[in-house]
Amino acid sequence: GPLEEMSIPLFFGFFLLSSIQDKIRCTSMDFLKTLDTLEPFKTHMTDFTGKPDKEVDLEQYFKATGTLHCTTKYCNYGKAEGAKEYAQKQAVKDLYGSTFELALGALFVTPRTVGARVSLTEEQLLLWPDDAEKEAESSVPAAASLPLGSRAHITLGCAEGVEPVQTGLDLLDILALQQEGQKAELVVEMELGSLTYYGEGRWLLLLREPICALACFSSYYK
Ligand code: A2P
Repeated sequence: GPLEEMSIPLFFGFFLLSSIQDKIRCTSMDFLKTLDTLEPFKTHMTDFTGKPDKEVDLEQYFKATGTLHCTTKYCNYGKAEGAKEYAQKQAVKDLYGSTFELALGALFVTPRTVGARVSLTEEQLLLWPDDAEKEAESSVPAAASLPLGSRAHITLGCAEGVEPVQTGLDLLDILALQQEGQKAELVVEMELGSLTYYGEGRWLLLLREPICALACFSSYYK
């Protein structure tokens, strides 16, 4: 009935503790600031501006998107496919409210979004829906052939008019290119790690030191 539907949240996910949120926001800002000044980035600036000789301030370009989290299942209050089944999963019930250490292994930027890739552990994968990657197939055809958990990410910012759901699709798109063995167009060594360009404004920074972030598995209602 309607009451039952009300009890299903907008989404389930890992919610980062506030001190680590500040740290990640700082790292993300530093990364964008540095990226903006790199010659290889400037060379490909038209990916972001659409016209030559125009500068972009990445810190202004992306808008913050609220409390930092890694969505596991988007439920839309029970209206999304598989929402009820997910909410009833044993692992979801058992682990609800538990704290986990998330490993952030990479940061990525596209003309649409900026995000952090999350590498889930075996235990964390118990909370990952089986069809999360397959669901993205209409946008990223190779998504279904990527390993479970490939879509796991934290949205750090979106360009004007872009919805946060895009961040996971952008990540899958980059991972699909990696899997195809498409040769990266270029690699730049940065203090934070090695930065790879995949064309069309797609940049991925593989962190030298993964960021460990404490996060609580919970849910969100707007
Ligand atoms: P993300 O997980 O990339 O941040 P919204 O504010 O648009 O309602 O979205 C709420 C949260 O759910 C956001 O974190 C968003 O993206 C995620 N989300 C929205 N739609 C989907 C979807 N169709 N599939 C997976 N995640 C979604």
